[in-house]
Amino acid sequence: MADIQRVLLDENQLAQRVKELGTEISRDYAEGDLLLLGILKGSVIFLADLARAIHVPVDMDFIAVSSYGAGTSTTGQVRLLKDLEGPIAGRDLLIVEDIIDSGLTLSYLIEILQSREPRSIKVVVLLDKPERRREKIVPDYTGFTIPDEFVVGYGLDYAEQYRSLPYVGVLSPSVYQEQE
Ligand code: IMP
Ligand code: MG
Repeated sequence: MADIQRVLLDENQLAQRVKELGTEISRDYAEGDLLLLGILKGSVIFLADLARAIHVPVDMDFIAVSSYGAGTSTTGQVRLLKDLEGPIAGRDLLIVEDIIDSGLTLSYLIEILQSREPRSIKVVVLLDKPERRREKIVPDYTGFTIPDEFVVGYGLDYAEQYRSLPYVGVLSPSVYQEQE
């Protein structure tokens, strides 16, 4: 696809790593009451694959936040667009996120969720861009650490596009330079 500068992670690499994460998580939550908490919309494809790689019972719930307009970096302001359906007190929460960049989204969410007294909160991210971190957050499980480039596909979007690409690719800067 012309808008993609290069493929960073292909379907096989993604599938292999998601399987490994599933195995690790299954081991860690053998005794737990695991609730996968997907952050809409970027995490849905990752969550769908990850859930099927986890071999202990899981519940799923979703939350939606927004920190990006149509740009490629955070506005610095996180808004809660959709809350969870159910209570989380006493449960083992695993937040499932597509990518951690500045860390603002996750630190905001963790703060809100902590006040509802779950038994535990951990974070799994498919991708980590540590170079741009502004909040001191280290995910408990990380799929891949990637350089500071804007990526799309496998759930990740630019202005709501490209989420359905089966791979993670670097977006050609010409795509967003036209807009910004
Ligand atoms: P943070 O709050 O800066 O950590 O940003 C996290 C959110 O920004 C993610 O949930 C993504 O929605 C979005 N994001 C950060 N980097 C990228 C990227 O390279 N491609 C697509 N979305 C991104
Ligand atoms: Mg997101």
